[in-house]
Amino acid sequence: RVPSFVRIVEVAPRDGLQALQTDAEITVDTKISLIQQLAHAGLRSIEAGSFVSAEWVPLMKGSDEVLRAVLADPDMTDVAFPVLVPNTYGFKQALEAGAREIAVFTAASESFCQENTNCSIAQSLARCEKVIGLAQEHDIKVRGYVSCVLGCPYEGEIDSAMVAYVTERLFQMGCYEVSLGDTIGVGTPGATAALLSTVLSAMPDAVDKLAVHFHDTYGQALANITIALQYGISVVDASVGGLGGCPYARGASGNVATEDVVYLLQGLGVECGVDLSRLCAIGHFITSELGAPYMSRVGRAAGKR
Ligand code: HMG
Ligand code: MG
Repeated sequence: RVPSFVRIVEVAPRDGLQALQTDAEITVDTKISLIQQLAHAGLRSIEAGSFVSAEWVPLMKGSDEVLRAVLADPDMTDVAFPVLVPNTYGFKQALEAGAREIAVFTAASESFCQENTNCSIAQSLARCEKVIGLAQEHDIKVRGYVSCVLGCPYEGEIDSAMVAYVTERLFQMGCYEVSLGDTIGVGTPGATAALLSTVLSAMPDAVDKLAVHFHDTYGQALANITIALQYGISVVDASVGGLGGCPYARGASGNVATEDVVYLLQGLGVECGVDLSRLCAIGHFITSELGAPYMSRVGRAAGKR
């Protein structure tokens, strides 16, 4: 049942950097260089930035410059660069910068939704619907995110039925793919299996349109991804170097490292089109450039640092 090809959505330039605590400056040039290197390693979906409020998330400032530069690069014409968009204001900025794909985001937890976007889940879904409508008018593809699918930093356990409901709404609105986010990395293989059973029994056809997005706080991300693959899911979000976190989920660690996911997939005989040794070199480059710890076990073992 494990798919023969997995598409990795590389999220380091957005999720990896948005909450990074470092004394180093994260310049627009560093972000562009990171994206170019990731594309060169074979990644074909690279989240390039975020059109959220700079007061809320200062490190995503300059996403317009980054997006313009990578879209204009003739070596990356076959790469998708989704950018996060929270509302119509952000959509207009993304459109001006030339976005061809955006990602809307909401949550399965009321408290997290409030903390992250200053509105309820219902209001957030209404915002998503507006943004998706505008995107459709401009032929822009829309990915969706649901946060806190396996636990919330404010509410603890989350009802899988709520995850299924929010996911289904995003599909109905027109998202071509919905990524299920374990924002704080508390999920276990058992909980992942239970969640996917609930979601897929509510919408069996969604298996080809779901992605999984694990943070690795409790070290369960690879085990959880293995379960997701066994459920037939073939899109996995990951962040080179294991960079990442959400500013509104304190204590949550980085995303699962892309290097580790690629190694896992190779071990399962699953193609993903990514060059592992190049990826390890990128993990080494970006974490030393930013003074961040290199969290990829595979990258460290491969002796790149
Ligand atoms: P708000 O303060 O309620 O917004 O924030 P508002 O509509 O009341 O407007 C207040 C001011 O912000 C106004 O400016 C607006 O123009 C401006 P003023 O008139 O006072 O000068 N504004 C904006 N500026 C720039 N870009 C915009 C924008 N919108 C309004 N898009 C808002 C609401 C949604 C904007 C805010 O809460 C926000 O930006 N939140 C984003 C938080 C965020 O980025 N979190 C991290 C990403 S989600 C994540 O990491 C999870 C994920 O990885 C999956 C997982 O792991 O689970 C995806
Ligand atoms: Mg995330």
